[in-house]
Parts: sequence; C-alpha cells; structure tokens
Amino acid sequence: MPVIRFVREGRDVECYPGENLREVALREGVELYGLKGKLGNCGGCGQCITCFVAVEAESGPGSLSPRTAVEEQKLRRRPEGWRLACQTLVQQSVMVLTRPQLGLADGEQRIAAAKAQPLAAGPTAWPVVEGDADDADAPEAADGNETATSGEAG
Ligand code: FES
Repeated sequence: MPVIRFVREGRDVECYPGENLREVALREGVELYGLKGKLGNCGGCGQCITCFVAVEAESGPGSLSPRTAVEEQKLRRRPEGWRLACQTLVQQSVMVLTRPQLGLADGEQRIAAAKAQPLAAGPTAWPVVEGDADDADAPEAADGNETATSGEAG
C-alpha cells in the first residue's frame, strides 16, 4: 500500500493506489484547510484553491497523478511542488506538507527528519482479494499464492 507521510501532522497513512489525496486526508482526520478553506471550500471540485499541499518527496516518478488542467490554471503563481489535494491521485508513497501557505515552525528540520525515514514504495495495483471469482487477471490468487509484498508490512 502506498504511504502518505504528512509532515506537519507527523503521521504516515496508508491508502490504496489511485486514491484521491483529499479524500484520504479527510478520512484520516488530517486538516487540509486553513481558515479560508474551513469557512468554505468547494468540496473537492477544484474551484476554491484552498486544499494546497506541498509535495516534499516521492518514492519514484509518477507517484502522483500529473497536474490536472485545473491545477495548471489555478497554481500558476504558486511553487512548482504545490498541488491541489482534491485533484491529486496517489499511486505510490509520497511525503506532503499540508497548508504550506501557513509555514511550519522548524520546518526545514522537520522536513529533513521526515525525509531521513525511507518511504515505503508500495505496490502499484489494488490488492487481490482471495476468492474473487471475477478476477481473471490474478492467477496467483487461484493457486493460493499471496501477492508478493515489499517486506515492509505494517
Ligand atoms: S477542495 Fe476546493 S480546490 Fe480542492
């Protein structure tokens, strides 16, 4: 499973490949929004520009979906590494700073400490569910063999 490391919160959260970053953050109780976004946000439509995250590290190229057309337009005057969480799908592990517009006390040290811990690469496919008769693409499951993991379980 990909891991999203939230630097500000000091938390690692697992998600399925392809999950929406905003939805994972909200599900896990991670605060994405500053005051403006708390008072009102678009609910993930890419219109309010309040769900910023700064991408600090990726486990590899393509860890996140490419910037959408909405992001290209709305983030023109923002740092290159910023994304709109509601427009971003997580494919592999990443490290992000929520609410980067607010700054972060001891930010450089905290980001460096977070980068010092390796990110789990995570698989790039949804896990195979044993006994799923419709899953013709998973012959390993039919043999009773489990999908190989990276050894980074947990
Ligand atoms: S939630 Fe409004 S732009 Fe992301």
